[in-house]
Amino acid sequence: MNPCVIWFIGLSGAGKTTLSDALFEELKNKYTSVLLKKLDGDLLRNGLNNNLGFSLTDRNENIRRSAEVAKLFYETGFVVLASFITPTHQNQKTIDEIFQQKENSEIKNLFRIFIDCPLETCEQRDVKGLYKKARTGEIKEFTGISSPFEKPLLSQTDLIIDSSKHTVKESIGLILDKLEEKGFLQKV
Ligand code: ADX
Repeated sequence: MNPCVIWFIGLSGAGKTTLSDALFEELKNKYTSVLLKKLDGDLLRNGLNNNLGFSLTDRNENIRRSAEVAKLFYETGFVVLASFITPTHQNQKTIDEIFQQKENSEIKNLFRIFIDCPLETCEQRDVKGLYKKARTGEIKEFTGISSPFEKPLLSQTDLIIDSSKHTVKESIGLILDKLEEKGFLQKV
C-alpha cells in the first residue's frame, strides 16, 4: 500500500473513530510493512491546536493545521488515518487545496470518506455525552445542533458510508474495495 491520507468526515458520533480504528487494525494485519498514523480532533486539539475553539474560523485553522500535519506524515511514507468533523465546504476545500486534489487529477494521496450518519442516530448514541450538553446550552457551537454541518459535495468525496446501515465489518469491506478501485492499494 502506498503512502496516503485517508480522511474521515462526519458528525460527532457518526463513527469516524470506530471505523478508523477498525481500518487501522485491518491494514496493520494485512500490510505489515506499512507505517500507520492515526490523527483526530481530540488528539490535535490537546496539543498543537489547543489555542483553537469551535468558531468557524478556528475550525478552519484546526483543519488546515491538521491537514498539514497529515501531509508531513504522508510525505515521510505513512498511511495516515485522519478523523475530523470537517464540517463546512470551506474546511473540505482547505483539505483538497493542501493535497492539491483536483477533479480528474492523477494525484492519489488523499482519500476522503464521508461517514453520513443521521443526526438523530448520532444524538441517540451520544458516546461522549456531548449532544446532551449541547442541547442544554452547556456546550456552545456544537456541530449539528448550534453550528452547521455541510455535507461534502459528491465531487469532493471518494466514498460515502451510512454507518447506521452497515456493520463495522461491512464498512471496512466497502472502504477496502474503494481503496483498491481507486488504486490506493493492491488487495492481499
Ligand atoms: S472540527 O469541526 O474542527 O473538524 P474536530 O474534529 O477537530 O472538529 O473536533 C471534534 C471533537 O471535539 C469532537 O469529537 C468532540 O469530542 C469535541 N468537541 C468539543 N466541543 C465541540 C463542539 N462545539 N462541536 C463539535 N465537537 C466538539
